[in-house]
Amino acid sequence: MNGIRPHFRFERILAAASVFFASCGHGNQSAINSAGIQSEQLSNLWWIWLGITAGVYVIVMAVLNVAYFRVRRASAEAEPDIAPDPARERKVGNIIKGCVALTVVIMFVLMIVSFRTGRAIAAMPAAQDPIHIKVTGQQWWWQIEYIDEHQPSNNVTSANEIHIPIGRPVRVDLESHDVIHSFWVPNLHGKRDLIPNYPTTIFFEADEPGVYWGQCAEFCGFEHAKMRFMVKAESEDDFNAWYAAAQQPSGSPANDSEARGQQIFLTSVCTQCHTISGTPASGRVGPNLTHVASKPFIASGSLVNNRENLTNWISDPQAIKPGIRMPMNTYSQEDLNALADYIQSLK
Ligand code: CUA
Repeated sequence: MNGIRPHFRFERILAAASVFFASCGHGNQSAINSAGIQSEQLSNLWWIWLGITAGVYVIVMAVLNVAYFRVRRASAEAEPDIAPDPARERKVGNIIKGCVALTVVIMFVLMIVSFRTGRAIAAMPAAQDPIHIKVTGQQWWWQIEYIDEHQPSNNVTSANEIHIPIGRPVRVDLESHDVIHSFWVPNLHGKRDLIPNYPTTIFFEADEPGVYWGQCAEFCGFEHAKMRFMVKAESEDDFNAWYAAAQQPSGSPANDSEARGQQIFLTSVCTQCHTISGTPASGRVGPNLTHVASKPFIASGSLVNNRENLTNWISDPQAIKPGIRMPMNTYSQEDLNALADYIQSLK
C-alpha cells in the first residue's frame, strides 16, 4: 500500500459525509427538518439514536483496533503464551460482564426515549377545536374531506392537497377501501398505514408556514410512486379564505367555449367518476374537480397543472399513470380545447 491512497480515500469519505450531513435538516420531505410538534419529537428521537449508536460504534471500533494491533505486536515478538492465567481470566470475565451490563443499560435508555416519543406524539387528542379532515387512500390518489361537525353543509371535498392553518391542531382520520396505503408527511408526522376496514386517526400541528410534500409510504400497486400529496400550512386568514372559496360551487361558464366544454363534460363518461359541485356531475370514483384549476398539480402530484399536461391527461391518462381507473378519451381537437377551457375555468 502506498502512502497517498489512504489519505485520498479518507478525504473522499469526509467529502461524502459532509454532503450527507449538509443535506440533512434541509430540503423538503425530510423527517429531521421538522415543521411541527410531532415531527420535532421524531427528529429529536432520530438524533438521540444516531448519537448513542454512533458513540457505541466508535468505541467498539476503537477497542477492536487496539485488540488487533496488540495481537499482531505480540505474535511478532514471541511465541504466544497459552498457559492458563487465572488472574487474567478473571479480569477478562469482569470486562465482559461490565460490557453486557452497559449494553443492557443503553438498550433500556433507547427503549425509554422511544416510548416517551410515542406518548408525546399521541398526546394531542385532548386538543380543543382541531381542524377535522378525513383522508381516504385510493389507487392512486388521496381524497380529502373537511368535516364540520356543527355545520355539515360546510364540508368540503378535495383531492391531493391539504390546507391547514399554522398553530392549530389537525385531526386526520385515515381510511382505505381498496388496499393498504400509508400517509406520510415527513416534515409533520411519522408514517401511518391506512388499512381497509381499520380506520385510524392521527393528530399533527404545523408551526411554520410552507408547503410540505407527502407520499404514500406503503407499496400499493402500479402507481404507488405517483401517489403524492401536499400539505399547505398557512396563516389562519389565508386558510379561512381558502376554505370559504372551497365551499363555493363552480361558477357558470364565462364564454361559448367554456359552455361547450361543460356540455361535453356533462354528457360524457366524465360524470360517472367526477364531481363538479354546482353541476349534475356527482361521481365519487375519481377526484372532485370543483376547484381543480386552482391547484398547482394534477394526477396526484405527478403533473404540473398547465394546459398541455391537462389535455394529455384527459386524452391518454394511461400513458402517464398506467393502471389507473381513468380510461383513454378520444375527442376532436376542438372538443378537447373546449373541455380544457372549461376545466381551466374551475378555479
Ligand atoms: Cu398508496 Cu402506495
